[in-house]
Amino acid sequence: MREMTGGHDVKTGAMVVLPDAEAIAQHMAKWLTAQALAKKDGPFVLALSGGSTPKRLYQILASAEYRDRFPWANTQFFFGDERFVPEGDPASNYNMVETEMLAHVSVPPANVHPMPTSGDPAQAAAAYQAELEKVYGGTVLQPGRPLFDVVMLGLGDNGHTASLFPRQPVLREKKLWVSTCVPDDAPHTRITLTYPAIHSSRHVVFMLAGAGKREAFAKVRAGDPAEPASAITTEGELIWLMDKAAAGQ
Ligand code: 6PG
Repeated sequence: MREMTGGHDVKTGAMVVLPDAEAIAQHMAKWLTAQALAKKDGPFVLALSGGSTPKRLYQILASAEYRDRFPWANTQFFFGDERFVPEGDPASNYNMVETEMLAHVSVPPANVHPMPTSGDPAQAAAAYQAELEKVYGGTVLQPGRPLFDVVMLGLGDNGHTASLFPRQPVLREKKLWVSTCVPDDAPHTRITLTYPAIHSSRHVVFMLAGAGKREAFAKVRAGDPAEPASAITTEGELIWLMDKAAAGQ
């Protein structure tokens, strides 16, 4: 398989352009499994993305081809963002990942970390950060010792990624790893990883499919400061995994 290598930000990140959404999902399944299997010196720490694009990937990872090969027991599954809705709500990212993947594989329950979605959102964000700190083994992010092996991200029409929405205070967060976000252009209060948490990663992979992503991608790739995704960086490698339609090819 082709090794995905890239730069550290949205402008320098490698673009891996594949024919269609199915090819993206298949490629990501193979790459992610290889990354996870290669992790020998500790747990493979993954931040999953929500939205509709990664659904097919989750189905593939739960299929016969990967179910018995992916190192479920050595992987810690976190979420990049969540809508503050009860578990089981159709808008819940955890619900989607559980339905499409986790329910069909033998993953130790302690390895799955849904974002809390009850009570006070700020307290839920703090509790999630505490959960990440436990796996990280520290409360201060150290350069050279990334929090995540892979952070998966998507891209919205308005340039949001994870739940980093335009105009919101979370975009200025420099210290917290997890925060709340109340978008002014989308439903639901959200819990999201912040820029510094996403930065502390070996790989950030954006998955983008369809012509509907073309415009937002072009703006982000050009570094348009109005698009929250433009400010995503990683101390590792950033990869754009996209289909031809999204890439405008
Ligand atoms: C979410 C996300 C979000 C998503 C984009 C793209 O929970 O909604 O994590 O950032 O990745 O909105 O969503 P689609 O894949 O549905 O286009």
